[in-house]
Amino acid sequence: MRIQIPAWLGLICMNGLISCGTKDENPIAGPTPTSLDAPDYFPNNIAMPADNPLTEQGVQLGRMLFYEKKLSTDGTISCGSCHQQQKAFSDGKQFSFGVNNSVGDMNAMSLSNLHWQNKFFWNGRAGSLEIQAIQPIQDPREMNLPIEEAVSRLQADSQYPSLFKNAYGTEEITPELIGKALAQFERTLISANSKFDAWIRNEVVLTPEEQLGLELFFTHPDPKLQLRGGNCSDCHLGFLTAGAPNGIAGFHNNGLESEENLASGLMEVTGNPFDKGKFKAPGLRNIALTFPYMHDGRFATLEEVLDHYNDHIQNSGTLDVLILEASNELPDGSNTVKLHLSEDEKKAIIAFLHTLTDQQFITNSKFSDPFK
Ligand code: HEC
Ligand code: HEC
Repeated sequence: MRIQIPAWLGLICMNGLISCGTKDENPIAGPTPTSLDAPDYFPNNIAMPADNPLTEQGVQLGRMLFYEKKLSTDGTISCGSCHQQQKAFSDGKQFSFGVNNSVGDMNAMSLSNLHWQNKFFWNGRAGSLEIQAIQPIQDPREMNLPIEEAVSRLQADSQYPSLFKNAYGTEEITPELIGKALAQFERTLISANSKFDAWIRNEVVLTPEEQLGLELFFTHPDPKLQLRGGNCSDCHLGFLTAGAPNGIAGFHNNGLESEENLASGLMEVTGNPFDKGKFKAPGLRNIALTFPYMHDGRFATLEEVLDHYNDHIQNSGTLDVLILEASNELPDGSNTVKLHLSEDEKKAIIAFLHTLTDQQFITNSKFSDPFK
């Protein structure tokens, strides 16, 4: 049966007295669904969480919260203080400074392509972006604000209650909704316009050095076949250069410490001694911008990183077999683990890593501080 709309109702609609839902904007409709702007060569099998679909209002709210200094005790620090856009959302320091110049003991991670990962932090202790997002607010060495206090500050603000209403249908702010909105914004931080991407899309050619670096990066060496390789993509895999196509983050011991000095890493989370010294293999996109390197920021340059993988691997019980058995030369009977790349090959890998820099990502105004 068709419902007749009486003519007089149409008149009220036209005058905007009530919403009739037929025109472009409908004030009683929910938030506007949107989708991630990712290229088709990124895995497309990772679903959005059913209870936190991406919406324009959610993303915009998350962006404000990301840059909101009220979320720190003394109002001096936001997520954006340690995750700075021009540094691909890292901070250039070995250890980050939180409120009152307190210093942490971990290097701030660069943020991009997070939708394709399932574990967060160097030791993987957060199982979703929604859960991860509210931890730094409460971390005493980061923003140091009890979450209830964060909620009441936002609730007392002149803007936030209505922004939450637009995004989530309620003015009542909760820790859960803060995490959800931050997660929405973070998912939009997609880096997919580097020279490497242009190469994937067949738009540019790489220089011979970059091309050699790419081949080494993606090859596991086999000296018997005279196949030279840098072995990197064994752990930093795929077009995202970390995480598996099914979005599962990888944790490995990449030989930074010998047995007696191994940090706990993933073991802190799983309690399994087999996970000692294992850390998340981070995405390497924009890696030239996100120095210093490793969970403790021990390496200042990519040259130092390559020297590590080539010559300074420390053996231990949980050292990854993919590193242990990777070499460009046949075993010489000694106990040392060496990759045996030449100086030019190391330089080529570094040249390739520079093709992962994405100028559009670090200047995209959608990701910048909305308060500036
Ligand atoms: C004081 C500096 C600082 C502040 C402020 C900060 N972070 Fe971080 N962030 C870090 C550090 C350091 C790590 C790595 C910590 C670890 O692994 O223990 C990290 C890790 C992360 C990760 C994990 C990335 C990955 O690939 O696993 C995400 C996501 C993140 N931060 C988002 C946020 C959000 C959202 C906020 C604001 C609510 C925020 N950060 C505030 C320093 C900071
Ligand atoms: C066995 C797995 C594995 C292999 C092989 C491997 N990596 Fe890593 N990589 C990791 C892990 C795990 C980390 C983080 C370790 C930590 O911080 O404790 C890491 C960290 C890095 C970092 C620092 C990232 C950051 O954000 O600080 C760079 C750069 C890097 N690797 C480059 C390479 C290159 C280049 C190669 C090849 C020569 C390579 N990796 C081979 C697992 C691996």
